[in-house]
Amino acid sequence: MSEASPPTFEVVIEPSDHRVRARAGETLLDAARRAGVWIPFECGWGSCSTCKVTLLEGEVECLFPQAPAIRPQDARRRRILACQSVPQTDVCIKALRVEDHPPEDLPTADYRGVLKERRELAPSIWRLVFELDREAAFRPGQYAVLELEPGLRRCYSMDDLPRGRRVSFIAKRYPGGSGSTRLTTLEPGSEVPVILPFGRAYLRETGRAPVFAAGGTGIAPILSLLRQVVAEGWFGDREVLVVYGANTPEELAARGELEELVAALPQGRLVLAAARAPDDWPGVRGFVTHALEQVLGDDWQREYWMAGPPAMVNAVLALLAERGVEITRVHYDSFG
Ligand SMILES: Cc1cc2nc3c(=O)[nH]c(=O)nc-3n(C[C@H](O)[C@H](O)[C@H](O)COP(=O)(O)OP(=O)(O)OC[C@H]3O[C@@H](n4cnc5c(N)ncnc54)[C@H](O)[C@@H]3O)c2cc1C
Ligand code: FES
Repeated sequence: MSEASPPTFEVVIEPSDHRVRARAGETLLDAARRAGVWIPFECGWGSCSTCKVTLLEGEVECLFPQAPAIRPQDARRRRILACQSVPQTDVCIKALRVEDHPPEDLPTADYRGVLKERRELAPSIWRLVFELDREAAFRPGQYAVLELEPGLRRCYSMDDLPRGRRVSFIAKRYPGGSGSTRLTTLEPGSEVPVILPFGRAYLRETGRAPVFAAGGTGIAPILSLLRQVVAEGWFGDREVLVVYGANTPEELAARGELEELVAALPQGRLVLAAARAPDDWPGVRGFVTHALEQVLGDDWQREYWMAGPPAMVNAVLALLAERGVEITRVHYDSFG
């Protein structure tokens, strides 16, 4: 007896009246994108609100009910995130608009990744290199959504330049963390669906001196950005300040690679920070915010790229706002 194939559902997208089919477990955004119908989106994981649509008919399951973009009033208005909603029946949704092509900077597509290498860079911090089924198209600083199990989706930033079919990530294993444990215990040869790229914290030239700030595994997109700065000679002779912080010096994963990149810059300056460090630690004792305060003094009017855990990102955002840096000058990904 053959097994029944999992159900697929019809998704009607107003106002265009496009009809697409969602596979079992597929989000509305993915199903529409796969059919060439582009609902506006940016983050792909539930923080930006760009993909919010109205559910006119049918039922969906939300994969991430605690997503930062979900507001208490959304349920009453039947507003849902297309990037986190999986149809449970045929549905009809209303988007503000749809396009028949992706945004130029987000050519987001489905790939199949096979894990080629897994290496521990620092305690509980791993580098994972996947080979995709075809060449990956993304900009340094962007990230991917990995479907580690059906319904278990997590974001990880590419740490390298786009180099053909290989993509590399740096991930921390959190005790009890379902996604990070799954990812960092995958055996080489394991296959994982990968969707990329997402996010807009990529390089742009604004005439200002740049600051790159990373906390913990936030070093992944910062490495990718710095590789581009070095390879393409961005920012001329302006100072490129790089601040990298972690709990302890041992947790500054990929520190050697970072030091080499900064040394290759005409005006590179690297400041390391550790919240807990031995007495002879030559870096800053404290957080990324302390390092920025010590180094920048009164000179805050620069362009900022930043990635790391939410506590670090929020603390730096608050500090920059206090120092009069406009939010449009800060390009960042908060890892949660
Ligand atoms: C833009 C972005 C880039 C990131 N880049 C990196 C990186 O390069 N390296 C790294 O180590 N970590 C990165 N993270 C964090 C990573 O995605 C995981 O949150 C982290 O590995 C902990 O997951 P967990 O399942 O082990 O923890 P758990 O405690 O089991 O899960 C909680 C985390 O999962 C996230 N989450 C829950 N449901 C979903 C969902 N449906 N879709 C997406 N996220 C969900 C929550 O935001 C929360 O942070 C990034 C996060 C974001 C948002
Ligand atoms: S919330 Fe950002 S794309 Fe869905």
